Amino acid sequence: MSSLDDQFHSAALDDDLTATLDARGLRAARVGDDDQEGTHRWQDAVARGFLGGEPTEAQYTESFARNGYRRKIGVYDAAGVQTDVPVATFASWGTELTLPGGSAVPMCAVSAVTVAPTHRRRGILSTLMRGELRTAVSLGFPIAGLTVSESGIYGRFGFAPAVTATSWEISPRRTGWIGPVAPGRIDYITREQGRDAATDLYERIRLSTPGEITMPGGHWDRTFGTRADAEKADKLRVVQYRSPAGEVEGVAVYSITEDDDDWAASTATVSRVVAGTDAAYAGLWRFLLTLDLVGTVRASELSVDEPLWWMIDNKRAARITSRDHHYLRVLDVPATLAARSYDVEDVIALEVTDALGIADGTFVLTAGETPGVDVVDDPPLGVPLVRLGVEELSAMLLGAVSPVTLARAGRVETDDPHRVARVFAATTPPRLSFWY
Ligand SMILES: CC(C)(COP(=O)(O)OP(=O)(O)OC[C@H]1O[C@@H](n2cnc3c(N)ncnc32)[C@H](O)[C@@H]1OP(=O)(O)O)[C@@H](O)C(=O)NCCC(=O)NCCS
Repeated sequence: MSSLDDQFHSAALDDDLTATLDARGLRAARVGDDDQEGTHRWQDAVARGFLGGEPTEAQYTESFARNGYRRKIGVYDAAGVQTDVPVATFASWGTELTLPGGSAVPMCAVSAVTVAPTHRRRGILSTLMRGELRTAVSLGFPIAGLTVSESGIYGRFGFAPAVTATSWEISPRRTGWIGPVAPGRIDYITREQGRDAATDLYERIRLSTPGEITMPGGHWDRTFGTRADAEKADKLRVVQYRSPAGEVEGVAVYSITEDDDDWAASTATVSRVVAGTDAAYAGLWRFLLTLDLVGTVRASELSVDEPLWWMIDNKRAARITSRDHHYLRVLDVPATLAARSYDVEDVIALEVTDALGIADGTFVLTAGETPGVDVVDDPPLGVPLVRLGVEELSAMLLGAVSPVTLARAGRVETDDPHRVARVFAATTPPRLSFWY
């Protein structure tokens, strides 16, 4: 943990957050990292909020052991019956987000947001979110991020979909492979070996893809079924790609669901391909698309611009659907914009509005090899001005949407959308390869 992450983890709750809830007869509190019982009850509330069943003993144990990195808040109602089970939950932690150009900024990640059906639509989430964003800002996080259960929740807090994910359903028998034939070899490995290889590979490649973040604790064990509470871990199959020089350059994990009426029509669900090189990517995908007895291959959290599309000769053998996936929220405009890279030298002015009063202001962005951002009172004459909300700025930060599109949608105002688009363009399509 960095010292910023540490400070955030143990920071006191925002005064306004506690006072607002207190005035409604509710008590907000951090769940202590050592408070096992409190953490279990908090987990009960999270499971209920996401429509799950009661956690098992293994889930309690694993979750307590692995989720210490999370700053956990519970909101308690003393007038209720199960007064130790929070009526609302919220978790956050410091991580790193990759920006265009391969730099990373500290990010406040948010998760486990639930409000009990008995307490919904009374402003509890709003109070928690505003308070936690204030704390994140006061400590210096330039940006916040989350993945969402539904789209309509977080725009009001300034979050916007900044990375789109695609889900693929491929009929491998309807297409031939026209991608490279990788020179290395594929071998089955254990789930533990897969987890270890994926951990190393992801850490090596995350800075090459805008939108990825450092993997939070426990995620790889979940992916590879190597934690005691993993479900259907025995169904997982793991392969690695090794280069001719003997380097492990990629791993893939998948499971098979048989079709009882037609054994040759089984479905392979690919939970993850982590490829450190283009050869590993081609080698692993070719392997996955040529599995015997498999009539359908499914994969999700792929990017909107996957090389795989160019490796199959029948594009219509793949049914691709897209979904808003990684939501970002700029908190500090100068710090965030100065951290990404720009492929053109230009100067533009941005007039940013923010309903929460966090990121608003007028800024002059000098794009180029060493970008700079100045806070100004008035936009200077002679440079294009963009008027936009913090949501729109967050949406275009990684290059997922062009300002030309946002202008046509009436979401940003500018006289020269094409020039602004050239400034914000990014050459690598953003991706976030998991949920958090
Ligand atoms: C989403 C959830 C946390 C909202 O909590 P809440 O305390 O009811 O939210 P608030 O009362 O603060 O709502 C604030 C505003 O957001 C709106 N809103 C809340 N949830 C919404 C939703 N799911 N879709 C659309 N709008 C929503 C409210 O209508 C309200 O609008 P207003 O300010 O115009 O009146 C809660 O409904 C929940 O737990 N849902 C199930 C779990 C879940 O999906 N969590 C989110 C995980 S990413």
